[in-house]
Amino acid sequence: MSKVSVIGAGNVGATCADVLAHQDVLKEVILLDIKEGVAQGKALDIWQTAPINYYSTKTRGVTNDYAATAGSDVVVITSGVPRKPGMSRDDLISTNAGIVKGVTENVIKHSPDAIIVVVANPLDVMTYCSYLTAGVDSSKVFGMAGILDTARYRAFLAEALNVSPKDIQAVLMGGHGDTMVPLPRYTTVGGIPVTEMIAPDALEAIVQRTKTGGGEIVNLLGTSAWYAPGAAAAQMVEAIIKDEQRIFPVCAWLTGEYGLNDVFLGVPVKLGRNGIEQIIELKLNAEEMALLKTSAGHVKEVMNVLDGMNISA
Ligand code: NAI
Ligand code: 2OP
Repeated sequence: MSKVSVIGAGNVGATCADVLAHQDVLKEVILLDIKEGVAQGKALDIWQTAPINYYSTKTRGVTNDYAATAGSDVVVITSGVPRKPGMSRDDLISTNAGIVKGVTENVIKHSPDAIIVVVANPLDVMTYCSYLTAGVDSSKVFGMAGILDTARYRAFLAEALNVSPKDIQAVLMGGHGDTMVPLPRYTTVGGIPVTEMIAPDALEAIVQRTKTGGGEIVNLLGTSAWYAPGAAAAQMVEAIIKDEQRIFPVCAWLTGEYGLNDVFLGVPVKLGRNGIEQIIELKLNAEEMALLKTSAGHVKEVMNVLDGMNISA
């Protein structure tokens, strides 16, 4: 039986721990936060749903005690500030880079073999920060964004077509920001190409809404989303722990795939017990490739900001 730690017991971290507990595939979930008592309180509350919802996974909360995370198979890093209305994800870099670096050092010290799933924003660059700090193979450090962004795209399509979201399959690539690249050519509804089910202008409107889907929720709530982000991170953990070999869009380190080098970017991968088991290279057309390169260029700019901060020195 496996152990997973979730760092940061805020909105996303607590939701992720709750979904993980309900999956009932782990022996233990450790929830850690720096705020005294918060992780303990939320973990206790989650654990008290076990008798109601009939599962056995134990959730335990700790205040900054990394010894409790020792021997984790997977660690999810959600610690970091979320954005407020008017902010971009990139505006969070200076605060969150310090947090992600410190957290990764502690995680690796106590769980050197753990697979790390980064959630903190700006996602692609925080994943880079954790990767540089952890000093482990890139198959073991990657980021969650694509499952969330694809879920938004799939949910919008399901609503527009009045079909179950279960029947919508899609691929979305690129950075976690407005330059992300939903791919209608790789979107199906019950196996039928989406382009046969919806008018081009309606599809284009959904693509645009997906790109700003995070901001739509920030404007409504004054902070960023957590239900779908927490569930998305938990789905990645489940695929790893159960060695499912599932195919998801994941923020991964590219070394030549898609003609891109040394950049963390959302691409389809196969996820299993070893983390990223394979990066899948789609045959993109010229327009899709141009959009992906633009997105990679934007992520690189923010990665350069991180490099300039000398955070990993
Ligand atoms: P939140 O403010 O509700 O929770 C963050 C938690 O991190 C707080 O409880 C805080 O005390 C804790 N924390 C801060 N520094 C820490 C440290 N050094 N060690 C341990 N815990 C620490 O924020 P929320 O909504 O949970 O978002 C968390 C992060 O996830 C943000 O950066 C947000 O932008 C990002 N996010 C990323 C998404 C994605 O798709 N990748 C989706 C949604 C949020
Ligand atoms: C989201 O997309 C803010 O990254 C977060 O909801």
